[in-house]
Amino acid sequence: MKKTILILLLTTIAMISTGLVMASGGGYPKSPANVDVDDMASLQRGAKVFSDYCLSCHSAKFVRFNRVADDLGMTEAEVMDNLNPLGVKFGNTMTAVMTEDYAKESFGAVPPDLSLVARSRGVDWLYTYLTGFYADSSKTTGHNNAIFKDVGMPNIFWKQEGVKEAVYEEHDGTKVLVGVKVVEKGTMAPEEFDTMIRDLVAFLSYIGEPNQSYRKSLGVYVLVFLFVFFGLAYAMKKDYWKDVH
Ligand code: HEC
Repeated sequence: MKKTILILLLTTIAMISTGLVMASGGGYPKSPANVDVDDMASLQRGAKVFSDYCLSCHSAKFVRFNRVADDLGMTEAEVMDNLNPLGVKFGNTMTAVMTEDYAKESFGAVPPDLSLVARSRGVDWLYTYLTGFYADSSKTTGHNNAIFKDVGMPNIFWKQEGVKEAVYEEHDGTKVLVGVKVVEKGTMAPEEFDTMIRDLVAFLSYIGEPNQSYRKSLGVYVLVFLFVFFGLAYAMKKDYWKDVH
């Protein structure tokens, strides 16, 4: 018996530590996105950025405009006027303006659908990616990305963010990319740009799991219920057993 428990314990520890090592990953360090999916104003701004800058190439085919309106507290007119460049119906999904064939020809890769990207990549990865473009004269595009090497996507925000350069450090004789820094100012102040990207990542996180706020608040109710139920059950148990000796 003791041996079985010991083996179980050791296996659990081994599984947890492998999980931790895998989660830490290695490679380029991710910066925390610090997004708040309960902040409606941030999500609304993020939706507008998504529609203005991303929807030309990427679709979000699991996301319907009317659902966005409902969830983010927007009217039909606000959604149709601000978030819908193709002018599709209110009940339609967010379709990319560009056709896949054209995109493939122009960028060498079809821009993937972004409905679930926050779940597959994680919000920190997205934040790091969207702020990770830097000038690289060895590329035909003129840029590269710190966390997505040789990316086919154009550097969408170069005007607003300014020009960035890679920062390298020497580790055991090899040059390692450790960060990016602005070398030529953009049209936006760094904090303003940062807020815009966080809003955008918050929106991507929301579309990846539209029910997440509800799920979290439901979790709290369930815990409160269990707590109250435990109190009641305990009081009942005491009452039933009080005459039994
Ligand atoms: C001009 C077209 C274009 C625009 C505009 C554009 N992208 Fe992209 N994007 C691409 C292409 C092409 C790729 C595929 C790159 C590759 O595989 O090398 C890509 C890849 C990505 C990826 C990586 C997906 C993955 O998991 O591999 C993310 C995330 C992304 N884009 C987000 C955005 C966001 C957010 C915006 C809006 C700010 C945006 N893109 C605007 C063309 C575009």
